[in-house]
Amino acid sequence: MKLKLLITLLSFVLVLNAQNQANYDESKIPDYTLPDPLVLLSGQKVKTSEIWEQERRPEILSLFEEQVYGKIPGELDITSYEILEESQDAFNGKAIRKQVKLTFEKQDKKLDVNLLVCLPKNVKKAPLFLAYNFGGNQTVVDDKEVLVSEVWLQKQANAKDENKLEPEQSRGKGKSRWPVEKIIDAGYGLATMYYEEIDPDKNDFSDGIHPFFYTENQTRPADNEWGAISAWAWGLTKAMDYLEKDEAVDKSKIIVMGHSRLGKTALWAGAQDQRFAMVISNNSGCGGASLSRRRIGESISEMNKNFPHWCCKNFDSYNNNEDALPVDQHLLIALIAPRPIYIASAEEDQWADPKGEFLSALNATPVYHLYGKKGLETDIFPDVNQPIQHTIGYHVRTGKHDVTEYDWEQFIKFADLNLK
Ligand code: GCU
Repeated sequence: MKLKLLITLLSFVLVLNAQNQANYDESKIPDYTLPDPLVLLSGQKVKTSEIWEQERRPEILSLFEEQVYGKIPGELDITSYEILEESQDAFNGKAIRKQVKLTFEKQDKKLDVNLLVCLPKNVKKAPLFLAYNFGGNQTVVDDKEVLVSEVWLQKQANAKDENKLEPEQSRGKGKSRWPVEKIIDAGYGLATMYYEEIDPDKNDFSDGIHPFFYTENQTRPADNEWGAISAWAWGLTKAMDYLEKDEAVDKSKIIVMGHSRLGKTALWAGAQDQRFAMVISNNSGCGGASLSRRRIGESISEMNKNFPHWCCKNFDSYNNNEDALPVDQHLLIALIAPRPIYIASAEEDQWADPKGEFLSALNATPVYHLYGKKGLETDIFPDVNQPIQHTIGYHVRTGKHDVTEYDWEQFIKFADLNLK
C-alpha cells in the first residue's frame, strides 16, 4: 500500500516537473512541414470533396487508427438497456431526467455504463450535448436522485483513506463545469457518463472494455489496437447508438463535447463517427487539437511516458520523432469536415499549446473550403475572449485549464449558429 502511494506521488511530481521543464519558447520551435490535407499519399492533389471523401479521408482515418489511437478490434453492440429512473420534474421543473443503464455482454463478461440524460421539457425533440464526466454522474449536478455507479463505489473502496469520498460528499462536486440549467434554457439536452465505466484511466488493460476482444491468453491490445482514448471514443459511439433510439432526442443534432483527455476523446469519436453533428474540444492539447510538430508545452514523448495507456503502442515510435508522423492533429480536425467543430483554449493552459490548437484549426480550413464552408478565415491569433465562429470555431479565454460558464456560452452560441 505504501509503495502504491509512493508511486502515485512520484508520478504526480514527475508530471508537474515535466510541465515546468517543457519548452514554451516559440523561437525554439524547429522548422517543420505539416502533411498537406489535400495531397494523397500517392502525391496526387485532392481537388473535390468527392476525392476527399473517397480517398484522402479514409487514408487519414486509417493512419490515425494504426499509428495514433489504435484500431477497435471488433464489433460489439449494446446487449440491452434499462431506464433505471425517469422524472418529468427535474431542474426546477424545467427538465426531464432519465438515467439509463447500457449493458454490454460477451461470453462471461459484462460491463454496465450509466448515462444521465437531461432534456428540456419544452422542446419536442431536443438537440443535445453528449460529454463524459471525470468524477461520476452524481458530481455533475446537485441532485439527490442521480444514481451513483458501482464503478465509482469500487474506485472509492480502493482509494487511499485521505482521498476517499462518500457518495453524498461527491454530489455536485464538479458542477462548475456543467451549467445544466443554462443548457436546458437554451433548448439543448445534456447526456453524460462517467468515463471510467468504459475503461478505468490507468495503465492496465485487464479491466474495462479491452478484454472483451481478447483472444485466448491475450493480455493487452496489439501494437496497432486501441488504447484508452479509442476505448472511450467507442463508448461515445455506443451512447450515440442509444440516443438515436430515444424519441425525445433530435438524433440529427447530437454534439459530442469533451475537456482535456476527454477532449482528445471527443475529437477522435467525432472524426470516426459521422453521426455526430458537431464536435467540441475544450483544452484538449497534445494528442487532441494541438499540433505535435510545434513541440510546445506537452510533447508526444511526455504524454506517452506519463499516460502510456492512452494511445496505441505504435504511437511510441514518434517520441521525439514528430517529423516522422504521417499525420498531425490538423488532420484530425479535417476528418470532422464539413461538420462544425469548435476548439476552445485557455490562456494559462500553455501545457496544451493554445496557439498550436489555433493552427490546427487554421490548417484544417482548406478541407472546409472544399465544401464551400468557412473555416477560421484568419491566420491572426485572436485576443483573449474574442471567439471566432464560422463552421470552425475557436477561442482562447482568460484563465486556466478548466471548463467554465464562458466556454459553455460560446458552445451554445456556436451550436445555435450552426445547427438551429
Ligand atoms: C494532463 C495531460 C494532458 C491532459 C490532462 C487532462 O495534464 O498531460 O494531456 O489533457 O492531463 O486530461 O486533464
